[in-house]
Amino acid sequence: MSADQPLVLGIETSCDETGVGLVRGTTLLADAIASSVDEHARFGGVVPEVASRAHLDAMVPMIRRACETAGVTLRDVDAIAVTAGPGLAGALLVGVAAAKALALSLGRPIYGVNHLAAHVAVDQLQHGPLPEPTMALLVSGGHSSLLLVPDVTCDVRPLGATIDDAAGEAFDKVARVLGLPFPGGPHIDRVARDGVIEIDFPRGLTSGRDMERHRFDFSFSGLKTAVARWVEAREATGEPVPVADVAASFQEAVVDVLTRKALLACAENGVQHLVVGGGVAANSRLRAMAQERCDAAGVELRVPRPGLCTDNGAMVAALGAEMVGRGRLPGSLGLPADSSMPVTQVSALETRGER
Ligand code: KG4
Ligand code: ZN
Repeated sequence: MSADQPLVLGIETSCDETGVGLVRGTTLLADAIASSVDEHARFGGVVPEVASRAHLDAMVPMIRRACETAGVTLRDVDAIAVTAGPGLAGALLVGVAAAKALALSLGRPIYGVNHLAAHVAVDQLQHGPLPEPTMALLVSGGHSSLLLVPDVTCDVRPLGATIDDAAGEAFDKVARVLGLPFPGGPHIDRVARDGVIEIDFPRGLTSGRDMERHRFDFSFSGLKTAVARWVEAREATGEPVPVADVAASFQEAVVDVLTRKALLACAENGVQHLVVGGGVAANSRLRAMAQERCDAAGVELRVPRPGLCTDNGAMVAALGAEMVGRGRLPGSLGLPADSSMPVTQVSALETRGER
């Protein structure tokens, strides 16, 4: 680590995690996180207003904790980065307002960055500079995207995305059908280890005309319904539902489609590096199948450790540091929080006015 590289503070509040990270170059110095996930559990999903209020409570403590962990003061920070979108509007506003307050009071530049690009950039903190181009598969409760990334600071190209439920959302909804707690992904992962993959659930958008029209898109809503119907039919017989087998078979269907399309995208675009990010990247079967298929295809797989895959401030600081390092222009204090910020827009300044 070089002390003369700029120190960047990153703020993430797009969903239910309040994250504040500190990064110098590609070195992670602190990653403070508070989550309101427990407050949403009884509703079976994130409640936007509850998340926004939790961000307000957690923001200053997380900034303090990050600075203490890194052994720096706010005066040492050279630039502020913040998730400008996409995400929950009210939640984003809390982070953007905090970032503007810091930028104004410290007299430092502010970078309003895209949450999805930040999920890709975070891999640099663990595996070093991103190969260019990189393919990225981002799978979380809020997004399922396949991105071709020639330059994470300014050139991110969407190849496909979910046309209905996000992958993590499907995990959460199927978990509810199986009587498992929210968020369901980690529970399905755990119980599936004792299950047998014996139910042939549908693989959405993988054949015939669907594949022509939606080559790199995903659909998990039909799969979710198929699981619910299967469970209902079993319950109607009065026999117990084999929860582990259903979980394992469902998980296999999701992971099969995700990895199949990601590797196809690599092959068709001549890309030899695949980054997998987002909360679902913590899934043990996804990691194993992605590794097998990447090895077979000669593609290098990069999956950040679970704490960097889920939403956090370090990823925002990582993208901010890369933007500073590459001389990208900062935003202004008027930069918007944009709940539907397109993935092609890496920062809230550079393409303003072009939409
Ligand atoms: O990235 P994240 O923390 O938040 C956003 O949604 O943006 O992702 C959370 C999602 C939840 O849907 C959760 O069920 C899922 O990631 N998840 C998993 C696993 N761990 C978390 N899904 C499958 N297997 C896991 N081990
Ligand atoms: Zn995310």
